[in-house]
Amino acid sequence: MTSSIDWPCAALPHAELAARTTMHVGGAVEWLLEPATPAELEQAWRCVHEHGLTARVLGGGANVIIDDGLLEGVVLSTARMRRLFRPRAAAGEVGAGEGGSLELDAAASEPALPDPAEDPRLVAWAGCTLPALLRAARDLGYGGLEGLVGVPGQVGGALAMNAGGRWGAIWDVVERVRVLEPGGEARELAREECEPRYRDGALGERIVIGAVLRFEPGPRSEIEARMREYLHAKNAVQPVSQWSAGCIFKNPDPELSGGRSAGRLVEECGGKGLTRGDAIVSPLHGNFIVNRGRASAADVFGLMDELRERVLQETGVLLEFEVKRWRRSS
Ligand code: EPU
Repeated sequence: MTSSIDWPCAALPHAELAARTTMHVGGAVEWLLEPATPAELEQAWRCVHEHGLTARVLGGGANVIIDDGLLEGVVLSTARMRRLFRPRAAAGEVGAGEGGSLELDAAASEPALPDPAEDPRLVAWAGCTLPALLRAARDLGYGGLEGLVGVPGQVGGALAMNAGGRWGAIWDVVERVRVLEPGGEARELAREECEPRYRDGALGERIVIGAVLRFEPGPRSEIEARMREYLHAKNAVQPVSQWSAGCIFKNPDPELSGGRSAGRLVEECGGKGLTRGDAIVSPLHGNFIVNRGRASAADVFGLMDELRERVLQETGVLLEFEVKRWRRSS
């Protein structure tokens, strides 16, 4: 039935998804929609709902494992919504302006950009990649996100899951976020209206359209040095350059786990190095599963369940998944 839909944006039938994720496993979806602007995203969302369908949202695919086979329905990808720019006004509302661009209202009357240090903010659409955001921030002398160095993915997904780690998380720099409500209307939320938690942006069913981010101005050399230091530290303990979905489990409540991280618990239970097909629990870090080339989603899901079961049996700690799992219904 869905073959006759006239989609309001770029649309691919039976699109393969594995290469659109950092784990590189999984099959295809009936329809992949690729809006290029916030306006197209809203129209696509409306069209999906008018046809009685539901859509899953795919950002950089850095925190999702997609099932093998054919997923029913629609995936809305934010990959083409890559814009990142400095706001033109010192104050104002983020609005869907001409052509649906996310911009500040006063742009037309005040065309000159202020000194970067006077207004250390950036507007990022949902599909702006974290590496692009970090590069731009570094070049402008904007500090605050260095802890996300080496993290793949896009702004929308990072906000939805509150990506971060020991050196800070993305919500640390959020001023406002623009979202699509579950009913389809676009709305802006001030930082104070949001309650992000550990690995959870707490946005519910809302879809991120974009955000205004406020940074801490500082010397470029210091920002760059911090990025280098953090990347070096991550490289030493994480399989940063291999195909993975990042950490599989959230770290448990330290009171329940005796202060042990998920990776540590997996290691203590002998989980490191376990394999299924081409999927392997990283010998470097117990909370990463790596695809060595031709792993299937079934291999990865199987290992995830096995690790969870082992940790539960041996330590009594029930680990919670950090990665999203997109399973087929049949
Ligand atoms: N550890 C082990 N064995 C392991 C892995 C870790 O004993 O196999 C020990 C480490 O020695 C350390 C402790 O566990 O004492 C914590 O490990 P690590 O410093 O590697 O940090 P993490 O808690 O495992 C968190 C985030 C990462 C983030 C890093 C650095 C979670 C689930 N993970 O990892 O985020 O990069 O801190 O900031 O919160 C992600 O979310 O995908 C992710 C990679």
